[in-house]
Amino acid sequence: MRYYLYHALTWPQLSYVAEDLSYDGGKDERTGERRGKIVGYILGKMEEEPTDGVQHGHVTSISVLRSYRRLGVAQKLMRQSQTAMRDVFGAKYVSLHVRETNRAAIGLYRDTLGFEVHGVEKGYYADGEDAWAMRLVLQ
Ligand SMILES: CC(C)(COP(=O)(O)OP(=O)(O)OC[C@H]1O[C@@H](n2cnc3c(N)ncnc32)[C@H](O)[C@@H]1OP(=O)(O)O)[C@@H](O)C(=O)NCCC(=O)NCCS
Repeated sequence: MRYYLYHALTWPQLSYVAEDLSYDGGKDERTGERRGKIVGYILGKMEEEPTDGVQHGHVTSISVLRSYRRLGVAQKLMRQSQTAMRDVFGAKYVSLHVRETNRAAIGLYRDTLGFEVHGVEKGYYADGEDAWAMRLVLQ
């Protein structure tokens, strides 16, 4: 919980949710705004001590509710966070890790957004699976 709160407090511009407003989720008690249903999110951050000395962002986590996939939601969340990394924090590139078997995510990052594989991190995940470290230069 502390980890997520730290993201929200330190880089509020880099995390977003996608909301389906056709769904009646009642009203926000504080603002009175109509609520929908949260169907996706992205959690982004800036690398605090970049080993290469270059300011860059990092996608910590992204997910879209199963019944809302293949609608372009993740692509939109990614682009929004990437734009803020560049414009608000001066990021030169964005990095992330992905399981080498995650075809959907690799399709999103490599084929749709133009990320490239920067390296492979052996046994990165708790179950021993390797991660691809991917990067996209922010123009
Ligand atoms: C990966 C994930 C976030 C994609 O979300 P999404 O909203 O469905 O993605 P989009 O609709 O924006 O897809 C954009 C592109 O990504 C690629 N893509 C998305 N899902 C794909 C799939 N199942 N197989 C192959 N390519 C896929 C396609 O190139 C797609 O473009 P297209 O629909 O025009 O062909 C979603 O599948 C998910 O939440 N997965 C579980 C969590 C996860 O794996 N997160 C990533 C951890 S690194």
